[in-house]
Amino acid sequence: MFTESLKRRRLLTGAFLLSLILVFLLAGCTGRTQGQAAIASSHPLATAAGMEILAAGGNAFDAAVAVSAALAVVEPYGSGLGGGGFWLLHRAADAFETMVDGRERAPLAATRDMYLDAGGEVVSGLSINGPLAAAIPGEPAALVHIAERYGRLPLKRTLEPAIRLARHGFEVDPYYNRLVNFRLAAMQADTETARLFLQDNATPTVGHRIVQPELAATLEALAVHGRDGFYAGRVAEQLVDGVRRGGGIWTLEDLTQYAVVEREPVTGTYQGLRMVSAAPPSSGGVVLVTMLNILSGFPLQDLDEATRTHVIIEAMRRAYRDRAEFLGDPDFTDLPVARLTGTAHAAGLRESIQPERATPSGALPDMKLPAEGRDTTHFSILDSEGNRVAATLSINYPFGACFTPPGTGVLLNDEMDDFSAKPGVPNVYGLVGAEANSIAPGKRPLSSMSPTFVENRDGVAILGTPGGSRIITMVLLAVLDHAEGGTPQSLVSLPRFHHQYLPDMVQYEVGAFDDDLVGALQARGHVLKVLDAPYGNMQAIYHDRKTGRASAASDPRGIGLSEVRPVN
Ligand code: DON
Repeated sequence: MFTESLKRRRLLTGAFLLSLILVFLLAGCTGRTQGQAAIASSHPLATAAGMEILAAGGNAFDAAVAVSAALAVVEPYGSGLGGGGFWLLHRAADAFETMVDGRERAPLAATRDMYLDAGGEVVSGLSINGPLAAAIPGEPAALVHIAERYGRLPLKRTLEPAIRLARHGFEVDPYYNRLVNFRLAAMQADTETARLFLQDNATPTVGHRIVQPELAATLEALAVHGRDGFYAGRVAEQLVDGVRRGGGIWTLEDLTQYAVVEREPVTGTYQGLRMVSAAPPSSGGVVLVTMLNILSGFPLQDLDEATRTHVIIEAMRRAYRDRAEFLGDPDFTDLPVARLTGTAHAAGLRESIQPERATPSGALPDMKLPAEGRDTTHFSILDSEGNRVAATLSINYPFGACFTPPGTGVLLNDEMDDFSAKPGVPNVYGLVGAEANSIAPGKRPLSSMSPTFVENRDGVAILGTPGGSRIITMVLLAVLDHAEGGTPQSLVSLPRFHHQYLPDMVQYEVGAFDDDLVGALQARGHVLKVLDAPYGNMQAIYHDRKTGRASAASDPRGIGLSEVRPVN
């Protein structure tokens, strides 16, 4: 008996040593200079498109173009050529970092009060459904810009997978149908949108093929003519014609004038980690860094759970107050970014936090609860050279404005709703804004999209998520988890909670707080609301600098796929 178990133990030790040697050998093969590549995106077909481009010799930036374009085809509810986004890039060769701002712009004929009636009240739905809700798309220009300036392969090659998917179609899944059901009436109101994305004017059956020949032709025009393939010529004319026939205000000049802007990312530090995140017109980087600056004054790891959660909520509350008051398009308003992300500002905010009591939010501008956020999209990419991309792209609400100019296949965004239509009146996510985010011709609406890198000497995490106003607090919770040794899997799975200053309420997912924590937070004066559905769709990658190894994970709440590839 004794010798039997000894033998077995020796055998096991032998096997363990052997596998250890194998792991070291494998690590040697994958190399230290040539690291692993990885892609995490919210759709398996988009991840496959990116992997195809990496295998064809493309870098992370080429793959980002391919993934963005594929998502434009297979996630018509989330992002697309009719929308915009932010692509955060890191080039390994010279550590250059930039944010490609492909955010939509208000049409030149837009006016400050365009969504108000004669009595000065906001007309409900006008900034959400139909062509008047659509701002001038930025994604096509951004894809051309990234390909030309940072890519290695021609656009003709990187757009190939998307063109194929548009031409041959993809199968409807239950996730697609959930979002259709949410927007069915608005989709039925536009014949072209209904023809393309519904089946016999109703929710498609699972497995039904969505084929988009018009979108394939538009993507081809982009591949052949670059930005002129979208912003001039046939496609531009069809876009403007369709919008104007539907009651919108676009002109050809809007399209020719659209320009991508490269912006310096917002940076900050937290517990030895360097944060690189979205710059205005996203509020993401500023709000994230403010929250982390506030929290760096607390020994979070040593606090009991109730106190820890309490101070995180209080940090969220204070940073979202800044958002409402100060942030908008930096090309139109001077934004106090340096002050807001500075440590002195955070110290002031931190001092006002009472350890045992929630601070009532009462005195500041009203903010209402956001709607469920399941549209928009995020992907993270790392190539074998260490180039990386975090990109969050959007057409705003599910299926955007539910309006498709005939002949183009381009479903338009309703990003105009991210402006403050009237001071103090909340948008679809319950966010209110001030002058900094009022409507003006050519202006970019304020966003919460927060593609982010988090790095130190050991490695770098690449992450982001959709989710409307809750995006930034999701990224915050992920950064805190990462700082405490979390993996991509734990970052994306983490139960979530959120506070956005007003209404004065903590929203949380089932499982985020147990009964004891609920009791302890209520005793401190917090109003809690458990959400009936989970939110977010985070895509995360971690690159270990010492081993060159990558790990990646897609949010279990979505249908995304993450893949790690040995070497290019
Ligand atoms: O730019 C923004 O902040 C919004 N248009 C993002 C919308 C979004 O994430 C929707 N949700 N899942």
